[in-house]
Amino acid sequence: MTKPVILTGLRANNNLTIGNYFGALMPMVEMANQKAGEYQINMFIPDLHSFTTPINHDELQGQIMHNARLFAAAGLPLDHDDILLYRQSYVPAHSELTWILDCFTGVGEMGRMIEYKDKSAKIGDDRVSVGLFNYPVLMAADILLYGAKYVPVGEDQRQHLEFARDISERINARFHDILTVPDPLEKQTEFFGKGQGLRIKDLADPTKKMSKSDDSGKGVIFLTDNPSEAAKKVMSATTDDKASINYNPIEQPGISNLLQILALLRGHPLDDVEAAYKGQSSYGDFKRIVADEVAGFLTAFQAKLADVSDNAIIAAFERSEQVANQQANETLHRVQQAVGLRPRG
Ligand code: TYM
Repeated sequence: MTKPVILTGLRANNNLTIGNYFGALMPMVEMANQKAGEYQINMFIPDLHSFTTPINHDELQGQIMHNARLFAAAGLPLDHDDILLYRQSYVPAHSELTWILDCFTGVGEMGRMIEYKDKSAKIGDDRVSVGLFNYPVLMAADILLYGAKYVPVGEDQRQHLEFARDISERINARFHDILTVPDPLEKQTEFFGKGQGLRIKDLADPTKKMSKSDDSGKGVIFLTDNPSEAAKKVMSATTDDKASINYNPIEQPGISNLLQILALLRGHPLDDVEAAYKGQSSYGDFKRIVADEVAGFLTAFQAKLADVSDNAIIAAFERSEQVANQQANETLHRVQQAVGLRPRG
């Protein structure tokens, strides 16, 4: 890697939501369009992460292609030498580095990961896979193989990003600086601007994250939702009885979430959007404005999605996977030498 690397991945385990879009996809596409040339942009599909919780395996291939199409529709250029689009499992070094890092990771450390605790509480102990437990280690390998400095992710992934920093520092302390440590989270926020660390909430239950694996889907806007159905979800979003629009995520999580979504859709600062509606009492009128904006956004996005060429995606995979394998194998070899699996220089 001769250029600094910006990297992110979005799992192919369901359709993506507007949370995924604003939390990770859009920041990454902006980076790709503004910074390729100066930076290398690694956008990948963490297909090995896709079945840490049970999925229908007959659908995985289709989901992988679908996600890549969503990336392209969001504006990821497919034919730029500095922009890599690849599938994690096509670069075997990801699995191999994971095993090595596993042996330097504490069981207690993984058990404290909030996402693991939440998901395992939901699924029940008997059905929790070692893969789910171990998932942050694979994520760290994804980042460290390419020496990525910047990793745009939503708020729910920040603890995992912190772990990638911890494990790289641990390996460096033990084996003399063989890995690039991702920048601290505050520096990442500075680099990406305000969007970093975003958490869009579920419309029906705004105390929880909007999640693609939510069973009912009632409070979730998927990028492929029918625009008028999505507008209906906004119209029935849970709010409060204060009859006054304010950005106050603790006391008014529903209205605050809608303000945040509107600001993101319009590309305006949240403060400006709040100022425009502050104190207004008609939630119905405000929801209509947000609903129309959501429907307009989805209509435009889906038109772009229909135009994406699968051949262009496959060509980008093939070109990128060649480069990714080369770069990842170099890092892996350095680690293998350090831990004694390969002869040293
Ligand atoms: P995943 O697939 O669950 O989510 C993809 C990205 O979307 C963000 N996100 C959100 N952002 C704001 N509001 C929300 N409601 C919301 N829901 C999801 C997530 O924070 C994430 O950035 N482990 C990762 C994928 C991954 C990865 C990596 C990311 C694997 N390896 C290496 C970065 C670097 C995951 O499961 O994200």
